[in-house]
Amino acid sequence: MKFFIDTANLEQIKEANDMGVLDGVTTNPSLMAKEGVKGEENCRAHYLAICNIVNGDVSAEVIATDYEGMIREGEALAALHPNIVVKVPCTADGIKAIKYFSGKQIRTNCTLVFSPGQALLAAKAGAAYVSPFVGRLDDISSDGVELVEKIVDMYTFYGFTTQVLAASIRHTQHIIQCLEAGADVATCPLGAIKGLLKHPLTDSGLATFLADHQRVNS
Ligand code: E4P
Repeated sequence: MKFFIDTANLEQIKEANDMGVLDGVTTNPSLMAKEGVKGEENCRAHYLAICNIVNGDVSAEVIATDYEGMIREGEALAALHPNIVVKVPCTADGIKAIKYFSGKQIRTNCTLVFSPGQALLAAKAGAAYVSPFVGRLDDISSDGVELVEKIVDMYTFYGFTTQVLAASIRHTQHIIQCLEAGADVATCPLGAIKGLLKHPLTDSGLATFLADHQRVNS
């Protein structure tokens, strides 16, 4: 399973990349706003800065909600760098835009996916990635991981090549559950990635090893 980091924060992206386990980055307009990036020029410069840190796919989301606007923005984003994946919302115009991009060999990430039916349309339109939002479904007492399982099963059964990118991951358990569900990618906050390292037996075991070494070497 590939690991993407879900942030537009350059320091966090560098930190995850330095760990040597990062395969890509996802951003969205809220994450860009959180970093104070505004205006088309600054957004494009920021996406390029991300592409220069990570050797992997970087999802950059269109702001337009109409078909023509999505095409215009998506083509400009895709032209920035070969690793840019154009992120498109799962709406009627979005699906139509994904189909257009797929014919132009521009890779897309269909975002804001909350049902198997939406995932079916994304795959049929030729999306490179589909992003089921795990945490946001859990937030409304639904089951986000179950959606990931359903999409993985459907894509496997019908041979769709769209990769399932588990998004809206909130904690380490989500990562493990999405891995078990067969997701191709999990996009996670830095804290959840680092959380995978935490185990008290690792800490106490290491402390004992070092104490034993110190006892005979001092
Ligand atoms: C990434 O592709 C999504 O936009 C992101 O994971 C959404 O996460 P959130 O539900 O925590 O905002």
